[in-house]
Amino acid sequence: MEKMLKNRKYHILTFGCQMNEHDSEIISGMLEERGAEAVDNKYADIIILNTCSVRENADKRFFGTLGHLKKRKQLNKNFVICVCGCMMQQQHIIDTLKQKYPWVDVIFGTHNIHQFPDILQRVISEKQKMTEVWEEAGEIIENLPAKRLHKHKSFVNIMYGCNNFCTYCIVPYTRGRERSRDANEIIREAEDLAKDGVKEITLLGQNVNSYKSENSDFAGLIYRLNEVDGIERIRFMTSHPKDLSDRLIKAFVDCSKLCKSIHLPVQSGSDEILKRMNRKYTKENYLELVSKIKATVPDVAISTDIIVGFPGETDRDFEETLDLCRQVQYDSAFTFIYSVRKGTPAEKYENQIPEEEKHRRFNMLVDVLNESSALKNQEYVGRTEKVLVDGPSKTRKSVLTGRTNSFKLVNFEGDESLIGQIINVEIISATTFSLKGRIV
Ligand code: 5AD
Ligand code: SF4
Repeated sequence: MEKMLKNRKYHILTFGCQMNEHDSEIISGMLEERGAEAVDNKYADIIILNTCSVRENADKRFFGTLGHLKKRKQLNKNFVICVCGCMMQQQHIIDTLKQKYPWVDVIFGTHNIHQFPDILQRVISEKQKMTEVWEEAGEIIENLPAKRLHKHKSFVNIMYGCNNFCTYCIVPYTRGRERSRDANEIIREAEDLAKDGVKEITLLGQNVNSYKSENSDFAGLIYRLNEVDGIERIRFMTSHPKDLSDRLIKAFVDCSKLCKSIHLPVQSGSDEILKRMNRKYTKENYLELVSKIKATVPDVAISTDIIVGFPGETDRDFEETLDLCRQVQYDSAFTFIYSVRKGTPAEKYENQIPEEEKHRRFNMLVDVLNESSALKNQEYVGRTEKVLVDGPSKTRKSVLTGRTNSFKLVNFEGDESLIGQIINVEIISATTFSLKGRIV
């Protein structure tokens, strides 16, 4: 590989989900393969904004950041501004960029990130601007290099896109139709990662439960990955409740490496709202599924995503959501205030909920969820847990952080040489969002 980007300094700002984080790791991998070097934002001469379009505040942050970058471009003629990610798959965004942000140099999309280094080289050598966004996905490109954030853990994409068209969600439009990677390719990647020292892999897909390749369904893939030497923990996200199979629940019992935590977005507890969200399950279906999982996998940690203030959500609908949360007793949850997304069916729905009311419901929901998170964490006090050590805590260097098998965050005193190891930690106290422990 010719080092065409030698001496170039880049920085990536990533917005949004793990899928985007992993795309950024691939962009880094490709740039460094050509000699570019990762630096802090202020030293960069190439800046890449990897955008998210799931909610409106992400759009606002993106345009705000671009506004600030204009100055840097004026001061440094060699400064290159690149934008990519989900927002670029929407024509109205590209139109806005061209009209109002002409200082952007490179625009590329989610389906053609593999082309980025070539596009960038052309933009630099020909001193021009380029927009290259594919409307639809092409063949899955294998073997792109990725620069991992951690040595001991890694994301592994198993599928791309989504076919579910939940009526509030932009993802099916920005990430395209579902397509799964070949199971053999995934196994090969896991084996390579294990050889490189990776102990934990997180399988990524918008709905991993509908993973399907020629020779495997999702549960089948887990059984195969469980046999890969060196990999000690397997996680996955995200799981649509309508497609979660009994075979997968059984895999939690049969596959010792499959971690006992599951992210199962419910979105709402009201049947009426679930129907208008096009979620294809009822509150009762969901609760039955949770009971089945809890009965088969004792100590499983369950987390979720919930949207408040979907159009037409009444107080009674919202009460159903609170009731569901009280019944499930989630370990943790991501809560979202409904945000209108251009081009989605729900954009046209009547009875959009006033901002104030959305915030009121949001706060009530968070209170209920925090209560169960605190209780669930309290159950860990006195236990000894296997913890994969991630690194020093952000606030205090002598404190390490890691994750239990069930993905609980644990803080404890320890030496940095333990990073990447799985060690025994006794849990001595708990708060709503984390555990405190002591190395055994
Ligand atoms: N408004 C608010 N939250 C949303 N999500 C997806 N689309 C929207 C939207 N338009 C939430 C869902 C999803 C999570 C990733 O983001 O809860 O599970
Ligand atoms: Fe969006 Fe629904 Fe697909 Fe998740 S399953 S990405 S919420 S459309």
